[in-house]
Order: sequence, then structure tokens, then C-alpha cells
Amino acid sequence: MDATDGPAVIKLGVEDAMAGLVLSTEARWNQTEDDWRVFLHDGIVFGIRDGMRLVATAALLPYSGNNAWISMVLVSGTHRRRGLATRLVDACLETARTNGLTSWLDATPDGAAVYGPLGFAPVLQLRRLRLVNSDRASAQAPAAATLDSLCTRDRRANGFDRTTLLSKFAQRSGSRIVSANGAIALVREGRTARHIGPLLADNAAAALALVNAIAQSEGSPLLLDAVASQTAFLEGLTASGWTIERPFQRMRFGSATATGEEVPFAVAGPEFG
Ligand SMILES: CC(C)(COP(=O)(O)OP(=O)(O)OC[C@H]1O[C@@H](n2cnc3c(N)ncnc32)[C@H](O)[C@@H]1OP(=O)(O)O)[C@@H](O)C(=O)NCCC(=O)NCCS
Repeated sequence: MDATDGPAVIKLGVEDAMAGLVLSTEARWNQTEDDWRVFLHDGIVFGIRDGMRLVATAALLPYSGNNAWISMVLVSGTHRRRGLATRLVDACLETARTNGLTSWLDATPDGAAVYGPLGFAPVLQLRRLRLVNSDRASAQAPAAATLDSLCTRDRRANGFDRTTLLSKFAQRSGSRIVSANGAIALVREGRTARHIGPLLADNAAAALALVNAIAQSEGSPLLLDAVASQTAFLEGLTASGWTIERPFQRMRFGSATATGEEVPFAVAGPEFG
């Protein structure tokens, strides 16, 4: 399909948060309406409508140091394989190019099939894990930590600053930042499960101990997105009841502008990096 063919690519506004949520819920993703508001308010979200109905989206969320995260690439099942995702990601890349931004994303296997041909190169692998965690909370929550300490550690790991994003997460009801033995993590609400991440720690034992303490104090289903090269951490999680749901491939378009000084144990989420 030619770029000028087909329905128009439009910029969405904050009033489209619910329509976006319908698309991410159709894909059984965990985002909430609040998550959509982050992309619609702080980033640029491109969309395609069929009549009044929003059928496809892609978002570009700028971070510091000329970096941006591309995510929420969603096409309704009724409209797939018509080139809509390609057109929307192209719109994100054009915006990134105009603004001199290096683009990053965490791709599902379906998404990687779209992004590879566009010129994205693989960087690292993630694994999405779920803990059913149906028991009642049986322990006290780990000690609370400050937003500042999380932002500082997150910047060290990613090489870019995400204070705006992490502050928004922290302000939501149900969010908490916890820390123990040099490990620190944020826990926030999701649509179907609470999400742990980012999680930074000095070693796998400290990361695992913090996740276990969170799980014992939560009593609801949990998700996290582990960096696959943290093998001892992954093995520890699966040994304590977490199951691997799917892989994500981190990819980058353009040259690296940021290098982290430590590898996170779990990221903020594939949609946020
Ligand atoms: C992945 C997704 C966004 C693709 O949307 P789409 O509009 O169908 O993609 P396009 O039509 O632009 O596909 C472009 C090319 O990518 C490849 N591709 C797309 N989907 C594919 C799939 N499921 N399997 C294999 N290749 C695929 C094909 O080469 C395709 O070209 P072709 O149709 O001419 O063969 C859509 O399937 C979707 O919403 N999936 C669920 C959510 C998701 O995984 N999003 C990606 C997050 S990273």
C-alpha cells in the first residue's frame, strides 16, 4: 500500500484515552486509561479511524538526551495485514527524525516482524513473567523508598532521565516504591495485574528477595518484565512460581545516544522501556 493510500493518519488527543484502552484491552494488554493518558499528554499518539471507530495506534514518548520510546502499536483484529502498523510506525519515525531522536521499542514477536524491515536493530531480550499470587497478603510490605532514589538509580541504568514518567506512576493510587538490601522497585496498578518495574538491584539475590517480599505483601496477580540476560534472577523467579508468558525484543532505530551503567533486573514495561 502506498503511504498516501488508505484512511488518514491523525494525531490523537487526551479525549481518545478510552478508545485506546479498547484497543489495548482487545490485545489483552495490561495498560490502564492512566497509561494511555501518559502517551496522549506527554507524547504523540498517531491513530487511524474507520468511520468513528479507532482501529490502530502508535505512540512516541520522548525521553531525555534525544531518546524516544515507540509503543502502543496496536491494530484491531479486524484491520490487520493492511499496512496500518507500518504506516503508523513510519509516522513515529518521521517525527523522531525531524526532532533528531533515537527511537527505542520493546517488540512482541508480531511487532518484531513489522519493525525489522523498517530498519530497527535488536538490542536486548526481555521476558514477561506472571505470578498468579491468589493467596491473601501474608506479610508486611517492604520498606518505602523515595521517588528521588528510584529516579537516580533508573537514570544510571538507562542513561536517560525518566523523572516525569516515574513521578506520574508514583502519584497514582495503589503505587508504591519499595526497597531492601540495595534493591529498589516500583509497583503500580495494571488492568489485570499489578506491575513490578523498574527493578534495580546490586545482584540477583537482592532482586529476588525484594520481588518475593512484594509478592507476599500483595495478594493479587503480578507481572514483571525481566531482562533475559539476568539468568539467575529469571531462574529464581520460575523456581518460586512465576511463569514466562512471552518474550519481547528490545530494538533501536538510529545510533545509541545513551549507555546505562547497570543492567536493570526488570524494566518499567515494554511500553515504557
Ligand atoms: C503487530 C501488529 C501491530 C501488526 O499490525 P498490521 O497492521 O497487521 O501490520 P502491517 O500490515 O503493517 O504488517 C507489515 C508487515 O509486517 C509483517 N507482519 C505483520 N504482522 C505479522 C504477523 N502476525 N506475523 C508475521 N508477520 C507479520 C508482514 O511482513 C507484514 O507485511 P505483509 O502483510 O505484506 O506480509 C498487529 O498484529 C497487532 O496489533 N498485534 C497485537 C499487538 C502487538 O503485538 N503489537 C506490537 C507491539 S510491539
